[in-house]
Amino acid sequence: MANFVVERKSPQELTQEDIETLVKWTTDAGWDPHVRPSDISHMYGGPPYLNAKIFFGFLDGKRIGHVALITVGNSTDVMEYITMFIMDKPLRGKGYGLKIWNAMWECRDTSANTYLDAVTKMSSNYESMGLNIVEWDNREYIIPLSAIAVKYKMTERIGNVLTKPLSEVELDKIVEYDAMVYGIRRPVLIKKWTAVPESFTWVGVNEKGDVVGCITIREGADKQDAIVGPLFSDNLEIAKKLMYIAAQTMSSQTSSKNLRILMCVQTRESNAIQMIESDFGVKCCANFLRMCSKKSKVDISKIISIHSLGYG
Ligand SMILES: CC(C)(COP(=O)(O)OP(=O)(O)OC[C@H]1O[C@@H](n2cnc3c(N)ncnc32)[C@H](O)[C@@H]1OP(=O)(O)O)[C@@H](O)C(=O)NCCC(=O)NCCS
Repeated sequence: MANFVVERKSPQELTQEDIETLVKWTTDAGWDPHVRPSDISHMYGGPPYLNAKIFFGFLDGKRIGHVALITVGNSTDVMEYITMFIMDKPLRGKGYGLKIWNAMWECRDTSANTYLDAVTKMSSNYESMGLNIVEWDNREYIIPLSAIAVKYKMTERIGNVLTKPLSEVELDKIVEYDAMVYGIRRPVLIKKWTAVPESFTWVGVNEKGDVVGCITIREGADKQDAIVGPLFSDNLEIAKKLMYIAAQTMSSQTSSKNLRILMCVQTRESNAIQMIESDFGVKCCANFLRMCSKKSKVDISKIISIHSLGYG
């Protein structure tokens, strides 16, 4: 009889083989260009370590599936993000994925707000598990960098907000801005995320020196699409300014041709989705649902784009 076990690890305990297997599965599943091998090894490996519980299913000693639970916040206010729920293709549909998920589910902090970004075909499954609050819909768009350069060029001169590279802004200020948007402090995640290899972070700063927006962009695995995430901003003008500088950076420093952005459908009337669709004539190419166990304190009006698939 086949021997199936689920092993729980911390990021410190991951082996090179664990990471390489995960990279192979995500690539096979078409999660690239979002998920690059270097992103996985950077986010999971090396200090500062994320507070993550990582679950691998083994069948007769061979890895067959994975899911992870990443905890942010402090003892009184916790959010847990479920990420990279994935099975080796030939072994899908045999009941193993649910077993790996259940091992993770038992280790949740039940007082926390547990959430994930779901492919729509899995959403009813997650709902039955208790992730029954759909906070928002994420829609993905692909926009030529050259079109952004033309359309948003005028934003360079508008308003009193300067766009500064990460090196000119204290990281703590970005952590505080992120906390204002997310309703929870995520210093380790921000520290790791802004240091992802070949990524660029630009920050919008007003006259008083306050952070009013930020964007991180990195080259996708296919080297054609630059991946945005997150893009947080106080308003749409600042969002355009940040998209412009990010597009300029990627055009001049990489081979990327397009910008890929997972936009959050906002409730306010003049929202970012309308802006993108009318400014560039693009249509959504994929969508995901942000599903939670509790209503979060996230200020959705400031989220133009979420981090990107896999990183909350
Ligand atoms: C999603 C995935 C990990 C599920 O693993 P799997 O081994 O194929 O799923 P199982 O065989 O264990 O599923 C058994 C049953 O439990 C359900 N199930 C699986 N995971 C579940 C979950 N997390 N919660 C509730 N139900 C679940 C399945 O729908 C299935 O129900 P059915 O028998 O009525 O069809 C796998 O299909 C996969 O790798 N898909 C591609 C990657 C992906 O889309 N990941 C999800 C991103 S949000």
